[in-house]
Parts: sequence; C-alpha cells; structure tokens
Amino acid sequence: MAYRLFEGKDHASIYQKYRFTPPDELINIIIQNLDKKKGKPHVLAVDLGCGTGQNTRLLGPHFQAVEGIDISESQLEEAKGVPGYPNITYRKGSAEDLPFPDGSVDLLTAASAAHWFDQSRFLAEACRVLKPGGCVALLGYSCFFPRLHYQDCGERLNQICEEVKQVMLPYTSNQVAVAFSKLEELYSAIPFPDKERIEGLQSNSSTSVRNLIGYIESISSFQAYKKKDPQRAENLLLHTQNRFLEEMGVMSPDTEMKQELEYYCVLASKPL
Ligand SMILES: C[S@@+](CC[C@H](N)C(=O)[O-])C[C@H]1O[C@@H](n2cnc3c(N)ncnc32)[C@H](O)[C@@H]1O
Repeated sequence: MAYRLFEGKDHASIYQKYRFTPPDELINIIIQNLDKKKGKPHVLAVDLGCGTGQNTRLLGPHFQAVEGIDISESQLEEAKGVPGYPNITYRKGSAEDLPFPDGSVDLLTAASAAHWFDQSRFLAEACRVLKPGGCVALLGYSCFFPRLHYQDCGERLNQICEEVKQVMLPYTSNQVAVAFSKLEELYSAIPFPDKERIEGLQSNSSTSVRNLIGYIESISSFQAYKKKDPQRAENLLLHTQNRFLEEMGVMSPDTEMKQELEYYCVLASKPL
C-alpha cells in the first residue's frame, strides 16, 4: 500500500517554500562514500521520494544526470518549476518499482522519505538497479521540530513547539515513528555487508517565525489535522504565531531566530 499524504497542490507549494534543505556536510559525506566504494565517474543519481526536490538539487553538481522520482504529481510539478538545473529531471514513479535497468545507478538517495516505502520491495529494487559498488544513502532527521534559540526565550519557544506536536500526534502516521527510529529496521534489513549509520550531524541555520509556521503547515500530520478540522488547524497556526511573537517580544513574523536540526544517514554499498 502506498502512503498518499503529499498529493495536494497547496501542500506541495507550502512544501517547496518551507521544507528544510539537508546540510552540505551531509551531501559531502555521501559523495565521499561513493568515491571510496565505487569511484568515479559519477554518472547517475536517483533521489527517491524527491518531493519538491530540496535534496535532488544538491546532487546536481556531483553527477552527469540526476533523476527525482516521486509518487505525487503535485510535488513533482513544484520541483519542475524550480529553474536552473539542466542535468536534473523528474518523473512519476515509486521506490518499489524503479524505471531503471539492472546495474545502471551509481547512487540512490531518499531524504525524509524512506519511512514511507515498502521496505522489502524497495530493497529488492535497490539491489537490482545499483551498479557494483553503487551506494544507498537514506537521510532524515529524527524529531518534529528543530531546537530554537532566541535571546533568553529559546526554551519557551521549544515548549510551544512541543505543545503543537501534542496536538498533531493523534493525526500522525505510524510511519513517522519509523523515521524517528532513524530507520532502524530498514537498516538491519539492508542485505549488503558494507553498511553504517551516521548520527548526530548538526545543521545550524536561521529561520523566521513566518517560515517556522510554514514548516508546521508542511508536516503531513498537520495536513491530516487540517483535513479533519480546517478551522481548528488554521487557528492553531495563528495562535502559535501569536504566542511566538509574544514570547519574543516582537511584532514582525519576519523576525529571525536560530535553529538546530540533527540529521542521520544510513549508508550502504552494493558489493563489487
Ligand atoms: C516527507 S516528503 C520528503 C520530500 C523530500 N525528499 C524532502 O526532503 O523534502 C516524502 C515524499 O515521499 C513521497 N513518497 C511516499 N511514498 C513513496 C513511494 N513509495 N515511492 C516514491 N515516493 C514516495 C511522497 O509523495 C513525498 O513527496
């Protein structure tokens, strides 16, 4: 069964605007791993569950060609709308039935997406399409919210996020717990002996109150809540924004704060 929680056009446009981009440091680790295990040339990378292409675009400079694959047409439309990436193409498809010949792919990635895949069918396809020495990199972060810092009120802002999370929990798919387990079961099931799990990669950046509210809106649990009770969901966003501004003692939702997010990555390579 495919999980279809990312189909809406509005959801896709929010996704494109507000979702996090993985840190360069993590992309460098993935590329260095591919260099070590398979070596150059880096011909084809495939980003599964590419969504609106945040991770796909980071792979562009490292490969002759990159393909983003997703089951959601709306997400793909948003990805295709981002100009300036001539070697990246997007197509509709599923991680369990990949449109590539045997032994043709150098790198398979999935960013915040592998928890939605059918584990055994995805792994069978990964084994089939990867070149010998080709690598899998499954990355993500293991919490709903980044840690926020703003003057002396960071802890209170984090507490507000915790309360928002509690409201969304009843609308949260069990698959999200799979992501938050850092893909433990999927990692164990990877049939390649050469595999490792990297944890604790810190990404530090800034965000505004407006962007944080946009991020909340992009979360699949929030979308499920909104489907059930649109008015309450809308109020939650408004109320959360007001609480943030009040705690921070500012008027503008464009006020910036620091955010910290911890990434993990499952890395594996097909035997030579
Ligand atoms: C949480 S989003 C992540 C999007 C993007 N990779 C990112 O980092 O922002 C998960 C994406 O996986 C896609 N997806 C879910 N199940 C899939 C499957 N079986 N095959 C391909 N894509 C899938 C969804 O449509 C959605 O766009």
